Formats: sequence, structure tokens, C-alpha cells
Amino acid sequence: MKAIEIRNKYLNYFKNHGHKIIPSSPLIPENDPSVLFTTAGMQPLVPYLLGEKHPEGTRLTDYQKCLRTNDIDEVGDNRHLTYFEMLGNWSLGDYFKEESIAMSYEFLTKELEIPADKISVTCFAGDEDAPRDEITAECWKKAGIPEERIYFYGKDDNWWIAGEEGPCGPDTEMFYDTGKPACSPECQPSCGCGKYVEIWNNVFMEYYRTKDGKYEKLKQHNVDTGLGLERMTMLLQGKETPFDTELFAPIMQKLSELSKNDSIESRRIVAEHLRASMMIIADGGRPSNIDRGYVLRKLIRRMTRHLNKMQIDLNELETLIELDIDILKEMYPELEKNKEIIKQVIVEEKNKFMKTLAHGEKEFEKAISRAKAENKNTIDGQTIFKLYETYGFPPEITSDLAAEQGFKIDNSEFDKLFKEHQEKSRMGSEQKFKGGLAEQNEKTIAYHTATHLLHKALQIVLGEHAKQKGSNITTERLRFDFSHPEKMTKEELKQVEDIVNEQIKRDLPVKCEEMSLEEAKKSGAMGLFENKYGEKVKVYTIGDFSKEICGGPHVTHTGELGHFRIKKEESSSAGVRRIKAVLE
Ligand code: ALA
Repeated sequence: MKAIEIRNKYLNYFKNHGHKIIPSSPLIPENDPSVLFTTAGMQPLVPYLLGEKHPEGTRLTDYQKCLRTNDIDEVGDNRHLTYFEMLGNWSLGDYFKEESIAMSYEFLTKELEIPADKISVTCFAGDEDAPRDEITAECWKKAGIPEERIYFYGKDDNWWIAGEEGPCGPDTEMFYDTGKPACSPECQPSCGCGKYVEIWNNVFMEYYRTKDGKYEKLKQHNVDTGLGLERMTMLLQGKETPFDTELFAPIMQKLSELSKNDSIESRRIVAEHLRASMMIIADGGRPSNIDRGYVLRKLIRRMTRHLNKMQIDLNELETLIELDIDILKEMYPELEKNKEIIKQVIVEEKNKFMKTLAHGEKEFEKAISRAKAENKNTIDGQTIFKLYETYGFPPEITSDLAAEQGFKIDNSEFDKLFKEHQEKSRMGSEQKFKGGLAEQNEKTIAYHTATHLLHKALQIVLGEHAKQKGSNITTERLRFDFSHPEKMTKEELKQVEDIVNEQIKRDLPVKCEEMSLEEAKKSGAMGLFENKYGEKVKVYTIGDFSKEICGGPHVTHTGELGHFRIKKEESSSAGVRRIKAVLE
């Protein structure tokens, strides 16, 4: 059975059992800056699990696009994926354990025709927070699972929550017996040897875990289930890995044809990261140095590295994207719709990365020679840090490159240097800004550069009177106060946004020069809060767009900022307006 048939069977089955089919939410959560990506089908449904009424009723089903990044470095083995599709069905205070289990059992054995004796299940063993889930075990027996294939485990295995706080509860997991020999006489679903593969998780959500770790009963009991489509497809097709199914096989094959230095691991990384990147871009994500944008950047960069490693001509990237869209467009029409932008974003990011690599490569080679001469098999943290700071080499790339030549990297020394560097610049910026940019990290630095772009854009749109009156930056947003007598119109706001985004797209270099205050003024730099500065001042120039006296720090190129969006324009005080804006 093909993946899309499994998806359709699933949605239809639950539709026939009173569920409304709802659309997948975007991979990039709407109105939820607390998570980077949607990681489970329940995530967009949290308000309804907590008791809010859902417009479609109390029985819902969908397929949800998900991305989990915690195992990103594991991709390349025979099972890890970052992007995956989760099929799910929900009861919002409607049915509970018995009906949920009866439906799961029927769907697996009747619709997917999995032999009943291949299924084992696990239930919650109970602890001080919630009782042993005998009810669930009874429901399984009633459905047709014999006692010897029902296992009880603790919270680590049979309790589900997204993150630290939120709706949660005991769960019951279904496992498929691959028929591989048992690893030991004690071999069980939980042992992870590969004999048993988890196929479905039904969470009985009737608790809420509070910030301080307490469990409170929810107003309503819910069911939240998740079935991983790629894994199910692989099992039903009798394949060893998801990469052997129709979702990846044609791209894996193409990579093999194009490669002059084939590696199954590299092919999997390219195939997986390409699909994940395309899905993120289709849902509006763009590469940058922060948050979601950084994950996308990392995916594209890793993919590029492995294409290089296999000696695949990077000009083939567009062909690969087109092929992958052909494979996936029936399941995700949004890929076909966004084909051009997907190609453009990936190719641009690849080009940027190739430049970075070219710059840093010499430095890297020197480090390798040094290590060889000293008879060491580790690249020291100082070198990794220099590659990071001066050439923009992410440490994971240095690690990859080093591994190719049989070297390891000293991560702990790098981490130490990185923290010291952060601390130093934080202290520096505190001195310079006293409350302006208290915390300094990649995000606040990006917001700082965005503030300069915004300032200039406001002067272009509103006039030179629109001068900075105050600024406040957090990791979440920038806030900018400026002189202007009236509320800005929608058109003006849009114009400002467009100008800023245009400068980001131009990827302008940011340059810093030191000069006297006199010289700075003469150079036409905008000067703010001048009495705060000493004799010598720093002037930051952003391409041909902006010039401002400022203590820094800033990003090196505006392309790193991501997409700029104004969230609010309001009055701050008489004659002063306030804008709140985000980079996404
Ligand atoms: N929310 C549950 C999971 O992700 C179903 O496994």
C-alpha cells in the first residue's frame, strides 16, 4: 500500500466513525512563537484539549505535517527523519479508552490487514501521579489482544506530554513485530533492538502538568493519537527503511546515478533534508541565523555538504528539487505551487554556503596540517571557534569535515570559548547600551541590525523628522520609538516593511568603522543620544542604505535577518509613535 493510500484509508475510516476531517496546520505554527515547528498533531489543538469548543465538533481527524529537530544529527541511519507526517484522531471530551482502542484495533487489523498476532501493546504501570491503567489493558483484551502481549511500563515509556507543561496523560502504544529474532529471552517492545517497531500512540489526556510539575485533572477527558505515516508505509511494504519506500526511493536512485562517490548515509541525509527543507519553505520558512531560519539553514547546508561529498555536481540541485516535488506533489500540492520559490531559496542558500566554505577551507586545511604535525587526532576548540567566528563555519560542519579526514573536534573547548565570547560581548553591550540591548545573542544582534533598517526606512517613507526616540530589544521582538505626529497608515506600514525586506533580500554587508564624532557627523551618519558616546565613535554602514553611529554589535550581512514583519504601531507619548516588529 502506498503512503497516500494509507493516509486516505485512515481519514476515511475515522470519517466513517463520526470524525470531521480537518486540514493539516502549517509546519510553522501560527500564533505560537514558543515552539519552532509543529511537532505533533495535537499541537494546534491544545486550546480544544483544554476545553474550548472546536467549530468542527468533538471528533476530529487529520494528517499533520511535523518536524522534530532533536535528532537531526542522527539522520543518515536507517530510521531517523526530521520531517514526517502524523495521522491522528481526537476525542475532545467525547469517546475515551474503550472506543479509541476498539477503533485502533479494527483499523490496524481490518483496514490495514495487519495480522493480529503481530501486534503487542503497552500500558501505563502507574505511580504517585496516576493509577495503573488496568482499564486500558482490559479494553485491549476485549478487543482481541491476549494478556501475554500486553506490557506495563512507567512514565518514561507510557506517558505523553509535549514539552514541560500542558495537557498530558497515560498512553498506550501499539507495536508491530517485524519477525526478526528476539535479542534475548527478555526481549520486549520497550527494548529497542528493532524486533518491535512502535506504530501508533493513543494518549488519554485527562491531566494538565503545571509549570511546577503538578498534575491537575482536566475539565474533560480527551484522546489524542498519532501514527507515523512513513514508518507504517515501510512496515506494510515489508521494507527495511523509509528510504526504500516510494516516498524516497526515486530520489535515492537518482542520487546514486549522479554520485561519483556513493554513500548510502549521505544519500539518506540529502533525500531527508531536501524533503524537510522544501516543506519548511512551502510553509513560509526562510533561512536565517535564528530559530526556524537557522534550522532550515542547517538542513540546506548539511545537504549541500553531502552532495559535495558524493561528488555530485551542485548544478543538479534544481533537477533534484523538481524530481522530489514530482514524487511528493500528490500528497503535498503546496510543493508544486511553491516550486519556483523553493528552487530559488535552496539554490541561493547553497551558493552562500559555498562561498563560506571556500573562505574557510584554507584555514581548515591549515588546522589539519597542524594537528598532523603534532600527531593529534583532534581539532582544537580555538580553531573551531575561529572558523565559526571569522568564516561562519558552523561547528557541525567543521566536525563533518574533520571526520572525513579521520579527525575529531574538541567540542567542549569550543563550547567554553563560545560561552566566554557571549559573556564578553554581553558585558560590552551592557556598558554601551545600559538597558538598550541587555541580553546579547544571535537573535538580539539580528534585531539590532533590523532596527537600523527600520529607522532608515521610516525616514524614507515618513520624512527626516522620523527620528529615533528609544529602542528596546528582546529575543522575541524589537520595539522602536520615533518622532511622528500621527498614526501611520496601512500603506505606510506596508511600504516600510517592504523597504526593510528589500534590504534584507539584497544581503547588504554591514561594515564598522571607528572615527571621531566630528568625522561621523560629516560622513552623514545618523547620530543618536550623542552625549552617551566618547571621543571616538563607531559608525555602522549597511551597504548603500544606512549609516548610523552605534556601539554594535551587528550581523555581518542583512541576508541573515529572515523576514521582517511589523506587528503593531501605536502611540508612545505625545508626538512619538511606537512600532513593534519581529523577524521570522
Ligand atoms: N501526541 C502523541 C504523539 O505525538 C500522539 O505521540
